[in-house]
Order: sequence, then structure tokens, then C-alpha cells
Amino acid sequence: MLKVRGLWKSYGETLAVADLSLSIRAGEIHGLLGPNGAGKTTVVKCIVGLLRPDRGEILVNGIKTTTSESYKSLIGYLPEDPALPEYLTVEEFLGYIARIRSVKPQEAKPRISELMETFNLTRLKHEFIGSLSKGLRQRVAVASAFIHKPKILILDEPFLGLDPEGQLKVKSMVKQVVEDGGAALISTHMLDMAERFCDTVTIVYRGRKIIDGDVRSVKQVVDANSLEEAFIKLVNRR
Ligand SMILES: Nc1ncnc2c1ncn2[C@@H]1O[C@H](COP(=O)(O)OP(=O)(O)O)[C@@H](O)[C@H]1O
Ligand SMILES: [Mg+2]
Repeated sequence: MLKVRGLWKSYGETLAVADLSLSIRAGEIHGLLGPNGAGKTTVVKCIVGLLRPDRGEILVNGIKTTTSESYKSLIGYLPEDPALPEYLTVEEFLGYIARIRSVKPQEAKPRISELMETFNLTRLKHEFIGSLSKGLRQRVAVASAFIHKPKILILDEPFLGLDPEGQLKVKSMVKQVVEDGGAALISTHMLDMAERFCDTVTIVYRGRKIIDGDVRSVKQVVDANSLEEAFIKLVNRR
């Protein structure tokens, strides 16, 4: 469902991503892992079309992202640092996103109610986003990524600022999409979380892939008990 081939991206002199490839099949939750500054967000932004790759190609459901915009409706994107309009209420904001995502008006209302229920936002629907805590804003942002029933989720640090209950909700929503034949790319620096949640992973370090595969085989390769240990072993080898 998603293929990245030989992706390169620099910001001026800073090489952010070097020769990165990954692919995600339907039914798969894939973790894009690595420490801060590893290049995860840059990869994500290239996939969703916010950045233009210097080199390489990206295919979403077989569609080359540089040749057509049509793939965008398939994607549910959560930015790393979502900027939400403070002067809209939760319900207004979700309605606004539903319109942008071309959700039919008669389908938008029930969908918004359902998402507000799922993320425990119903009682806050008339609150201004500006009055919400960081964690609650993150719930709103996550809910908005699901509004058009996307097949492919691209979530950049989705668990940041979320309480355990919020994290659980996100995980179950992701699982639902994937069980229905979708796929998910989860960018996170939380290796322990990824170990339990992801089927397959790509670990990046300083813009380059250091290993990929299913979680078990990645650990086996370096004889590690956890992804964290695997990461440290792999980095020390370099
Ligand atoms: N807009 C930008 N301008 C200049 N350098 C950037 C910009 N965004 C990211 N970088 C640099 O690119 C590298 C990768 O960053 P990023 O993709 O945000 O990594 P991650 O998401 O893994 O933390 C870092 O060295 C970062 O400082
Ligand atoms: Mg990032």
C-alpha cells in the first residue's frame, strides 16, 4: 500500500534523509523508529506531500505521489505538531476538517459524533480548542485524522502528550483500520511502545536506515531482548 524507494532529502547543508526505502502491506502496522533528529518527520512529510523529495519515489496504493494528488484522499495524516485553530470549538473544527476531506454532509454528523464518543470528546464539543489542555488537543487532532475513513494512516508521534487512555484509543482505532485491510505508518521515538504495537519496523539513525523487518527478526539479528537494546547495539556497532 505504501512504498518509498531511495528517498533523499536535505535542508540546505543538513542531510536529513539518505537513501531510505520502506514498504508497507495491507494489514500491517509499521513503525518508523529512531531518536529525535533521525529523519522520521522528514520522511513522513515527503510521503504526505508537504516536502518534495530531492531524489527517490513514493508510491501510495501504486500511485506515484509526484504525478497525482489523488492519493491524498486515501491518507489519514496526523502531523507531529498539529496546529489547531484555537477559536473553533471541537465540533466546529471536526466539521471543518470533514468538509476539507470531502465527507458527504449527511455522513459528517454521525461520523463526528462517533469520533467524539471514541475519543471522549463529546462533553467538550462546544469548548474552544484554545481552552483545551495539550493532551485533549492531541485527541482532537487524532480524531480529525480519521474523519474520512482513510485506508492508510500516517501518524507522526501520535502518542505524544496522550494519557494512557488516549493512547489506548489511538491504538484501537489504528488496529481497526488495519484489520479492515488498511495500513499504518507510525513514526515514534518510543521504542518500547513500538515493540508492542507494530508488526514491522524501520529503524532510522542520522537519516539512514539501520535495520528493518518484523519486530522479532530485528531483535534476533543482534540477539537483543528488546527493540531498545537492538537499537543501542546497532548504533554502537557503527
Ligand atoms: N525545516 C527544517 N530546516 C532545517 N533543518 C531541519 C528542518 N526540519 C528538520 N531538520 C533537520 O533534519 C534532521 C531530521 O529531522 P526530523 O525529520 O524532524 O527528525 P525526527 O522526526 O526523526 O526527529 C534533523 O537534523 C533536523 O534538525
Ligand atoms: Mg519528528
